[in-house]
Amino acid sequence: MAGGRGSNIILVGFMGTGKSSVGRLLAARLRRRYFDTDSWIVRETGMSIPTLFADFGEQAFRDMETRAAQEVSGRTGLVVSTGGGILGRPRNLELLRASGVLICLQAGVDTILQRTAPWDSRPLLRDAPNPRATVEQLLARRAEQYARADWAIDTSGLEPADVVERICEKLPSLLRDAATPS
Ligand code: S3P
Repeated sequence: MAGGRGSNIILVGFMGTGKSSVGRLLAARLRRRYFDTDSWIVRETGMSIPTLFADFGEQAFRDMETRAAQEVSGRTGLVVSTGGGILGRPRNLELLRASGVLICLQAGVDTILQRTAPWDSRPLLRDAPNPRATVEQLLARRAEQYARADWAIDTSGLEPADVVERICEKLPSLLRDAATPS
């Protein structure tokens, strides 16, 4: 695999697209270790994400996200779920892409709002005057970041198990391409 990328399978995408539920199932199915960047941050800081945002600000959370990306890049063979904003820093994209394949989970705005409500654990939506407008703006702003993934799948109307099936069908070619030096 010299010159190629690593063997991690990294799920990226907006809040409510199913990264954590799909990630856990996929890890069990492939008998891989599961790593959730948000859970890692909660463990490292001893704080919930809303508390981290409220007491230390979003940038402190983003700094922790970069540390989580560094942690992932030092490991192999993982299934990783990430927070929806992790690709906002080019350094994170670089670290994650080097460590494996990036799969973007997508969903429509209605599905996102349904799956994330009542937003208690998502400060960006909980504190927004109009969560729908915020979702639309963030999706537009992040579209370019998510487009850097190796492959994308729309999870609207799908159960996590269906998404896992489709990812498993696609995985051999994704992992092969990632391992090939460019
Ligand atoms: C965020 C998404 C959240 C969490 C934090 C910020 C974002 O993760 O990392 O609230 O910027 O989109 P999920 O995508 O798992 O909800």
